[in-house]
Parts: sequence; structure tokens; C-alpha cells
Amino acid sequence: EECYQLNVSPKDFPKLKNDAFLLACRGQETPHVPVWCMRQAGRYLPEFRESRAGKDFFATCRSPAACCELTLQPLRRFPFDAAIIFSDILVIPQAMGMDVQMVAGKGPTFPEPLKEPEDLLLLQSKVDVNKELDYVFKAITLTRHKLEGKVPLIGFTGAPWTLMAYMIEGGGSTTQSKAKRWLYRHPEASHQLLKMLTDIIVEYLLGQVAAGAQALQVFESHAGCLGPAEFQEFSLPYLRDIARKVKDQLKESGQDVPMIVFAKDGHYGLEDLSQSHYEVVGLDWTIDPRSARERTGGKVSLQGNMDPCALYAPKERIYEIVKKMLEGFGTRGYIANLGHGLYPDMDPENVGAFVEAVHAHSRHLLNLK
Ligand code: CP3
Repeated sequence: EECYQLNVSPKDFPKLKNDAFLLACRGQETPHVPVWCMRQAGRYLPEFRESRAGKDFFATCRSPAACCELTLQPLRRFPFDAAIIFSDILVIPQAMGMDVQMVAGKGPTFPEPLKEPEDLLLLQSKVDVNKELDYVFKAITLTRHKLEGKVPLIGFTGAPWTLMAYMIEGGGSTTQSKAKRWLYRHPEASHQLLKMLTDIIVEYLLGQVAAGAQALQVFESHAGCLGPAEFQEFSLPYLRDIARKVKDQLKESGQDVPMIVFAKDGHYGLEDLSQSHYEVVGLDWTIDPRSARERTGGKVSLQGNMDPCALYAPKERIYEIVKKMLEGFGTRGYIANLGHGLYPDMDPENVGAFVEAVHAHSRHLLNLK
């Protein structure tokens, strides 16, 4: 089976049937507000837990057939308007030669994180992205075919600062103090690493588009631990570089793929993010929809931002929360999502209620126009 699937080529993809998500990325009119959820392929689904049971996380990431199946699972249950490829942001540090393991109950762990600038010499600085990350491209191509044009497929990457933080912290951290130590003590080495990551990320995203990704999201999940000044110096320039380089390259071949930037807890950077060549700015739940609209001045589409924990509420309450969110953002240039990923203990039924509420209430608002 795997053998046949690996032969699938990134050509003659099925015709897209639901383009609401892509239209909303570009601020164009849609029949309803499109919706998807970060971590929609995840442990809250019993079928996901069953597929993943007993298998190593990164081994799963390396199997195109498994990634395809996990990506499609949530689409079989809910009428999401986009799929996001099952993978992980930490495949890049792996491609650079770092060992990363998924430790149960602890999350991703680097047995030998970067400690001092000399450790940069141990990294593969010129990564052959097409060789090392080929398995992701194969997963994207296969999934794009198997989606049968149902909805667009989103590719993604971690942003340079977020990846750097993992590579130095060696895992999750509340303070990110080891990584931030580099910013204050080794600014030059930090820029060197961020630049190295940026070059790989640009190639990686272009490879994802060549493989069939129809939109790209850049996760700056660790924006929140930076302040405005550090964000300006160590995150924003690289986020901008990525979008500009990817877009310039795509333009040369007459392509144009919408890009989303999600800088979690980075609302101090909202004005800048809305002028960074991304079509869409993703928002966490700590920003009020109306003020996010004002501060981004209609320059970009917005994506987000219901508190994932609102899914613990009864369904009627979820409907009310969605209603307020839609009325705050408006129906144009808006993609409904959560402010961060789904948690494993969430009830799939409530996820369904969230999706249903977005579709129903946005259709209602659009009919009033
Ligand atoms: O959103 C999706 O459905 C697509 C798949 C996706 C995964 N990881 C699958 C995954 C995406 C977009 C990611 C990105 C990712 N990975 C981020 C950025 C988004 C964010 O959350 O801010 C980060 C920080 C990571 C690193 C990572 N991988 C963490 C912190 C964890 C959680 C560890 C845990 O035990 O919960 C992972 C593991 C992971 N990645 C899971 C999934 C579905 C759960 C683990 C499993 O399946 O065994």
C-alpha cells in the first residue's frame, strides 16, 4: 500500500469544491465564515488515539500514509473548511541533525539541546530539505489527492524564534529563560541561528507548496515570552523575510499561496504583523475581536480566536460565544478558529457544535446583508 502511495505525484489534483477558506484569506466574499481548528487532528478523537496507539510520534510523522489518515480523520466527522497536514514543527531541528523524542506525559524532548554558541557548529547548516524532509512532501501530495478536493490543505512550519527556543530549552518551558539568555548574552549567535532556520524554513515552505499545500501557516508559538523590543529584533524580521522570500519565489512561477502568521500571545506586535506580507494574522483568545480589527486596519484577514477552554461549556453557551465572536470580527476577511490548539480531553461533540455554530450564525448574518 505504502509503495503505491509513495508513487503519487503532485500533479492532476482533484478540483477544489469548497474554496471558502481560500477566499476568506484574501478578504473575498464567502457564503459562510470558514472554520477549522488548530490541532484538529489530535488526541481528543478516539480514532486518532487508536491510530497512534503504541507508535512513536516522529515515526508516525515519517509515514505519509499515517499522516494522510490522521489529517483526514477530523474531516470525516466535522464539516471543517480546511485540512492541516499532520506533522510537527520539530521536524526541522531533526533535519538539522538534532535528536528529538516525544516523551509521554512530557512532550517533545531534546536529549542534547544547544547550550553555548559553539554548539551551532554541530548543526547541519546546509540542510538538503528535499532529501531530509521529503517524507512531509510525500504526505502532503498523498493527502491532497485523498482529500478529493473537499477542502484546501494547509501546510505549516514553526517560526525561527519558536524553533530556536525549543532547540535551546530542550523541551517545553514556562520562562524560556535558557533561550532568552542567548538573546541577551549571545545576540550575534542568536541571529546566526535564526538566519540559518529562516533559510531552511523558506525552502521547506516552497517544497510544501510544490507538493500540493494550498495555504501556509507559520507558528510563532513562543512570541509571548518576548517583549516588544525583543520581538522587533529576534522574531519580526525573520517572519517578514520568510513571507517575502516565499512569495517572491512563488511569483516567479506564477503561483500565489495565502500565508498565515500566528504569533501566540504576541498582541503587542499586532500592527507590525498586519504589515508583514502575510494575508492572514492568527490571534489567540487574549485579544478582543473588535480591537484586533481596529489595530490591523482592514489590511489583513484575521483568524481565531475562541478560547479553546470555551469548548468545555455546554453547547448553547458555545453558540452564544461564537455569535459574539462573529459579530466582533464581522463575516468578511475572517476565518473562525480557536485561539490555540484543542486539548486531548475535549469532547468531539462540542467541537462539532463549534463548527456548526460558526456556519449557522455566519449564514444568518450574511443573509441579513
Ligand atoms: O493542527 C493540527 O491538527 C496539525 C498537526 C500539528 C501537530 N503539531 C501535531 C501534533 C501541528 C500544526 C503541530 C505544530 C506544533 N508542534 C506546534 C505549534 C503549534 C502550537 O501548539 O503552538 C508546537 C509548539 C509543536 C511541538 C509539540 N508537538 C508539542 C508542544 C506537542 C504536545 C506534546 C503533548 O504531549 O501534548 C507536540 C505533539 C503533537 N503534535 C501532538 C499532535 C497531534 C500530540 C501528541 C501525539 O499525537 O502523540
